[in-house]
Amino acid sequence: MQELRNVPNENKKEAGQKINEAKQYIENAIAEKLAEIKEKEIEMLINATESYDETMPVSVDYGSYHPITLVQREVENIFLSMGFNVEDYSEITDDYNCFEALNIPKHHPARDMQDTYYLSSNQLLKTHTSAAQNTILRKYKSNLESGNPIRAIFPGRCFRNEKIDACHENTFFQMEGIMVDKDISISNLIYFMKTMLSEVFQRDITVRLRPGFFPFVEPGFELDIQCSICGGKGCASCKDSGWLELCPCGMIHPNVLTAAGIDPEEYTGFAFGLGLTRLAMMKYEVKDIRLFNSGNLKELSQFTDVSFTHPEESKEA
Ligand code: DAH
Repeated sequence: MQELRNVPNENKKEAGQKINEAKQYIENAIAEKLAEIKEKEIEMLINATESYDETMPVSVDYGSYHPITLVQREVENIFLSMGFNVEDYSEITDDYNCFEALNIPKHHPARDMQDTYYLSSNQLLKTHTSAAQNTILRKYKSNLESGNPIRAIFPGRCFRNEKIDACHENTFFQMEGIMVDKDISISNLIYFMKTMLSEVFQRDITVRLRPGFFPFVEPGFELDIQCSICGGKGCASCKDSGWLELCPCGMIHPNVLTAAGIDPEEYTGFAFGLGLTRLAMMKYEVKDIRLFNSGNLKELSQFTDVSFTHPEESKEA
């Protein structure tokens, strides 16, 4: 192109055309070659994964259990040893199971605290593990007819519209527990909670019950444990009260039993909703709840105790 100005005027047009043709030819050839190289590169990548050698020794970390998984499994083991079934329950439920069956009718003010994610299918993400009570009571109802209690725990992920800060998350874990039989009383409830918490914290735990309102239990309580940091004298961790709120619970409301087809005149039961995320924060002294959903492996992996085994895993082994 630079030489074009030296070409005599009468030949300029023809030379320009020829140069342009050559330029076009070279550009096409480059584009073709690039496409070919790209194709070869993809082919090489595919072949490389096919020749992946799974017998090569692993030299990286094995990963670790999430602190909530650890606490959940620990509590599961304790309740398994007390004859409870561990139940799985979906994260997606509906208005009936999450509210109506739990004696929370439409427009009940208790719903205000539990706004959640509604799906276009008229379903919703469960706001508490209590949402499985009706299903699980129905599942084990036949136990009662054959003279056996219903004993089940059901851990799970829950969702709520929360203003997120160090203590509040829109996604958190609870573990619900229920026991139904003839003559179940508050003493049974206190016994099971005390035993479980003493096992989790590996020391004798002092608990107290305060009245608490939940539409699905009557009477309802807030179960507090004595603060382990100050031994009940009062400190910054327990806001000077000497007690930490841990687990709401109560005697299952007759309407909830009736909704599951169980006669409340004949049977009674207790229920509790343990905050698993909260328990993990207390046990591992995690100050900020946001750590749990952060995906920060450096922080999250420090709690794993590799000697830990779950009964389900030892069964598989
Ligand atoms: N579902 C309640 C909540 O998330 C907690 C709860 C309270 C569960 C009392 C219970 C109970 O089983 O008896 O706010």
